[in-house]
Amino acid sequence: MKKLGINIDHIATLRNARGENHPNIIEIANIVKKSKADSITVHLREDRRHINDQDLSDLCKKKFNINMEMAANLKMMNIAIKNRPKFVCLVPEKRNEITTEGGLNLKKNYKIIKMIVTKLNKKKIRTSLFIDPSISNIILSKKIGAKCVELHTGKISRLVKNNKDFKKELIKIKKCSKFGLINNIEIHAGHGLDYKTTRILCKIPHISEYNIGHFIIGESTKIGISKVIQNFMKIIK
Ligand code: PXP
Repeated sequence: MKKLGINIDHIATLRNARGENHPNIIEIANIVKKSKADSITVHLREDRRHINDQDLSDLCKKKFNINMEMAANLKMMNIAIKNRPKFVCLVPEKRNEITTEGGLNLKKNYKIIKMIVTKLNKKKIRTSLFIDPSISNIILSKKIGAKCVELHTGKISRLVKNNKDFKKELIKIKKCSKFGLINNIEIHAGHGLDYKTTRILCKIPHISEYNIGHFIIGESTKIGISKVIQNFMKIIK
C-alpha cells in the first residue's frame, strides 16, 4: 500500500504573513486526517520561518501521525525527543535557501547522523534520511542504521515540469529504490511533486510513501477560492 504524507509548512507561512491564527494549523491537520492522508509533515526550521515550537508541540499532543523534518544537530534531536513525533526525517538545512535544495551529505556528517539515528531509533521514533538518489547514499544509509530514506525528487520534478528529458533521473531513482528495498530500507520520495511527476514515480513499486507539500497547498487555493468567494457573495448580497 502506498502512503501519502502531507507537508503543511506553508499553511504556517500563510498564517505568519498576518501574525494571527488563520489558517489554523490544528484545523488543517484535522482536515488532512479526515481526508485519509497517512501522515502530516512539518519542518521545524532553525529560523522558525513557518512551523514553530508551539505548532509542533500542539500537533504531537493531538496524536496526529507527525513526521518532523529537522536538521541533524543535537538541539533539534532533543526537541524531537521532548515532543515525540511518530517519525523524523533528517534533512540538510541552509539558512538562506528557499526550500530544502538537496539531500544530506552523509559522508561529511556521518558521525552526527549515525548518533541521532541510533538515539531516535532507540526512542522508537522511526527516522529517515533525506538523500539524493544514489547507490552510495543507500549504502551509507544502511551503515548508519536508517530504517528508511526519502529520495529527493526535486531534479526529476523540475525536468518533468519543464518538459525536459527525465529518463536518466528516473532510472537512477528506480535503481536506488530497488537496491534500497533489497537492503531492507523503506523507500520514500518527496520534493517538488505535482500530479504529473507523482504519476510517473507511482509506477516504481519499491517506493512506498510520497511526501508532498507546496503543490497541494497551491492547488488547494485554486480549487477552494471560488467556494470562498461564493460564501462572501451570500454574505454581502
Ligand atoms: N520532503 C522533504 C524532506 C522536504 O524537505 C520537503 C520540502 O520541505 C518535501 C518533502 C515537500 O516538498 P514540496 O513542498 O516541494 O512538495
